[in-house]
Amino acid sequence: MRPFDVLELEIFGESHSPEIGARLAGLPAGESFDPEEVARFAARRKSGKYLFSTPRREEDECVFGGCAENADGTLSTTDAPITARILNTNIRPADYGYLRTPRPSHADYCSYVKDGERAARSGGGRFSGRMTAPLVAMGGVAKQLLEKRGIRVAAYIAELAGVKGRSYRDKEVSFEEAQGCLSLSLPMLSRWEEAAEKARLAAEKGDSVGGVTECIAYGLPAGLGDALFGGLESKLSAVIYAIPAVKGVEFGAGFAIAAMRGSEANDPFIIREGKVLTAKNDSGGLNGGITNGMPVTMRVAFRPTPSISLPQRTVDLAFMTETEIVVKGRHDATVVPRAVAAVEAAVAIALLDAVLYSEREQRS
Ligand SMILES: Cc1cc2nc3c(=O)[nH]c(=O)nc-3n(C[C@H](O)[C@H](O)[C@H](O)COP(=O)(O)O)c2cc1C
Repeated sequence: MRPFDVLELEIFGESHSPEIGARLAGLPAGESFDPEEVARFAARRKSGKYLFSTPRREEDECVFGGCAENADGTLSTTDAPITARILNTNIRPADYGYLRTPRPSHADYCSYVKDGERAARSGGGRFSGRMTAPLVAMGGVAKQLLEKRGIRVAAYIAELAGVKGRSYRDKEVSFEEAQGCLSLSLPMLSRWEEAAEKARLAAEKGDSVGGVTECIAYGLPAGLGDALFGGLESKLSAVIYAIPAVKGVEFGAGFAIAAMRGSEANDPFIIREGKVLTAKNDSGGLNGGITNGMPVTMRVAFRPTPSISLPQRTVDLAFMTETEIVVKGRHDATVVPRAVAAVEAAVAIALLDAVLYSEREQRS
């Protein structure tokens, strides 16, 4: 089942194939976007941009197809699907290849069981974090189309290496605050130096760390989404879980709501400047899978990077014996800083689909 109502998104290629890319169908014709702005957004996912990312250099220059060029350098959608193609330039296949001795908690073993020898791809194949580059490119387009409709999406790190920075759960986070922290070495609203030190200590030992990214969508009208399988929580989650290393998604107060009483958890309705709002937002802007006019708030948990250079127990599938593995290669000591843009992209694409669906319903 596809997660979308209007859009069709396909991501093609593998981490070490000559190119990777995405094809997005279903956008209305005549929507313009700025490819330079997409490039600036995509730069946030690049390795080397933030602390603890792999020394692998990923240039990620993206070429869009299926669009009409405008005199001002922007591109416009036509009736055709748009494509985003990115060349894979900085690949070193010899660093990888763990099918015989699979890396614990990477996708090597599972993809081998599923696809057999066809899974013998280097660099994580379709399961690599590299595959978030085309997602981010299309997310960059989706963000611009949403912005034209007054909807803005922002993500930041709320927790890294067990250090909890400021969260929307403690105090409302404005779009400007979320954008402001992007200029830091780690995009956290507070305590980024402590988090960086803990991550650095782990990386020094050949280990890795995980964390939590928060994402907020501002300016959404009430009424987007649907009941049952059409619920916006499931659609957002379906795209977010396409990001490798995601192990949990929460909305609003998330799992903490389970320990609250109804009187504490319920968000009272209020009227402000003629608009129905809620006095607080523990529901994360969604009731019954439908937006209620408050910001949609999400938390996304990322596991520590599976490829660590400490010795780990694994198996030798050729001899069916237990053995040890030390993973070599150029790996991110944490994927979280680079995944912030991927979360924003995933959320933007899912929301754009809901917005386009609602626009289509209103026209008919
Ligand atoms: C931006 C990004 C970069 C990543 N870089 C690495 C890496 O360098 N080494 C690694 O082992 N995993 C990396 N991962 C995570 C793995 O791809 C992921 O853990 C693996 O495919 C297994 O999938 P799962 O964790 O969702 O179960 C990265 C993920 C993202 C989002």
